[in-house]
Amino acid sequence: MFRRLHTSSSTLTITLDGVALKVAPGDSVAAAVLASGNPACRQTPVTGSDRAPFCMMGACFDCLVEIDGVPNRQACLVEVREGMQVRRQARPTLVADRLAS
Ligand code: FES
Repeated sequence: MFRRLHTSSSTLTITLDGVALKVAPGDSVAAAVLASGNPACRQTPVTGSDRAPFCMMGACFDCLVEIDGVPNRQACLVEVREGMQVRRQARPTLVADRLAS
């Protein structure tokens, strides 16, 4: 779906859900997720539908991910760095369980 217009001569390695991913220095985490082939960053708390980066400028909050153990970071506002650990945010089970009962 997404492809880079230019290739970078240098790369950094981050992990996305535990899988190593080569990214370009200067990429935002959101750009790295979009380029990974699976653009989903999180699931909505109510329906569990996938959300992906949309505005890329900090307005929509659809890009929330866990970065180095800190949840709810806006991926479009954070630049990748070597060794960064990024996790997609799954639907919170507590909200889903409360709605189901
Ligand atoms: S993509 Fe909209 S806030 Fe990050």
